Amino acid sequence: MNILLLGPQGSGKGTQAKKISATYGVPHISSGDLYREAIARGTELGKQVEPILAAGELVPDEITIPLIRDRLSRGDTTPGFVLDGYPRNLAQADALDEMLEDVGRTIEIVFVFYVPDRQQLVERLHKRAHEENRSDDTPEVIQRRLETYERETAPLGEHYRTRLGNVVGIHADRSVQDVFQEISEALSAVEARA
Ligand code: AP5
Repeated sequence: MNILLLGPQGSGKGTQAKKISATYGVPHISSGDLYREAIARGTELGKQVEPILAAGELVPDEITIPLIRDRLSRGDTTPGFVLDGYPRNLAQADALDEMLEDVGRTIEIVFVFYVPDRQQLVERLHKRAHEENRSDDTPEVIQRRLETYERETAPLGEHYRTRLGNVVGIHADRSVQDVFQEISEALSAVEARA
């Protein structure tokens, strides 16, 4: 099953992607995790993107698109994948279409996470700042990331609604378990149709 998660920072994409991966046996592919791993290993890529992540800006498409193309080409994605944090703009979405078309695959379902109260997102990220010490979970950088999401990424929900149809809105302002329940029901419907 090829699954895509869209949603603002702190809406729980990473949290739910891990649960989907564990339950449905598909790899969790997070562009942010790939970048954080490269930073932790001190690779050339890591050195290049470290200040960009710390500032809460988007890594240029020329770097991100090949990174995802390479990751999706690995054998473990044969049963599917859950993609989290990519695409972030229209150019990345178009590139994803091309990558999948080349191998005769499509996205089967897109989940769009909604948390109407922005303060709730900010509070979750502040809490994570204490727990995980992520360099981009500072008040100023959180605001920048949320603004970039609204401007560049949120329109992709409509893009996929028009192109794909199978776009499911998720009320992500509830407990982790309630959100996962809603996702599981939608995934069961996809499995039943397959
Ligand atoms: P990325 O790693 O993708 O981070 P993000 O977009 O900032 O998303 P978050 O991790 O903040 O949110 P999430 O929805 O995954 O929330 P989570 O589940 O962790 O990107 C980081 C950076 O990498 C970008 O800023 C950019 O620089 C670069 N980058 C990545 N992809 C890129 C791309 N495609 N193009 C260009 N640049 C790119 O949850 C957050 C917290 O809330 C956790 O503590 C969690 O425990 C808690 N929580 C989750 N769900 C619930 C719930 N239901 N109730 C209560 N608490 C909850």
